[in-house]
Amino acid sequence: MNHLSNEKLLQSLNWRYATQAFDAARKIPADTWAALEQALVLTPTSYGLQPYRFMVVQDAAKRAMLLLHSYGNKQLLDCSHYVVFTVRTEMAEADIDKLVQRVSQVRGVAVDTLSRFRNSMLRDLVNGPRNKIAQEWATRQAYIALGNLMTCAAVLGVDACPMEGLVPAEYDKVLNLAGSGYATVVACALGYRAATDKYANLAKVRYETTDIVKYI
Ligand SMILES: Cc1cc2nc3c(=O)[nH]c(=O)nc-3n(C[C@H](O)[C@H](O)[C@H](O)COP(=O)(O)O)c2cc1C
Repeated sequence: MNHLSNEKLLQSLNWRYATQAFDAARKIPADTWAALEQALVLTPTSYGLQPYRFMVVQDAAKRAMLLLHSYGNKQLLDCSHYVVFTVRTEMAEADIDKLVQRVSQVRGVAVDTLSRFRNSMLRDLVNGPRNKIAQEWATRQAYIALGNLMTCAAVLGVDACPMEGLVPAEYDKVLNLAGSGYATVVACALGYRAATDKYANLAKVRYETTDIVKYI
């Protein structure tokens, strides 16, 4: 395995910034996007339940409609790929069984041998107190995917802007999510920075490492 050097990683993380203006003429090449799509898919989640769907909005008319509910975040029009993160609004027995079936299929093991795994998920997320916060729990998983996507994009030299500046209920309408069991939580615009984006050259503002990393 040929790992990235420490220097390369930090260079990429310092290079990235929340891109405010994208170059509308530059699209992410198909092979690069395919890698980023897999970065989304490969995101780890609690129990491996993957309680989300990533909606890649390629339709210009839909993007224009979403802009009306995005507090003026115009990045979503000019970016190459616009990903809306949607999460499961509840966790039911069927969600657990879907994963159990998948594990059984992928690893070639009988469903019966997964009953302890199945029961612990049911006890926790379906029949336990966490069922009441299922959407919140799913949202945390989606943010892991968002972080993963942004870091991987930076490593591949793709710009990104994470976006909470949107009205989830209105996005749900534009994306026809009513009744789907999924709801919008956050989005990410990806592509290449415009030469005119003055935010690219601003110094990074972070607290001192010693203020936020504590060794005990
Ligand atoms: C979850 C999340 C939501 C954000 N929402 C927006 C947004 O709606 N619009 C925007 O321009 N920037 C948004 N940002 C960008 C942050 O303001 C930015 O990441 C932060 O100031 C750090 O700067 P840097 O990313 O350029 O290093 C968001 C960032 C995160 C992580």
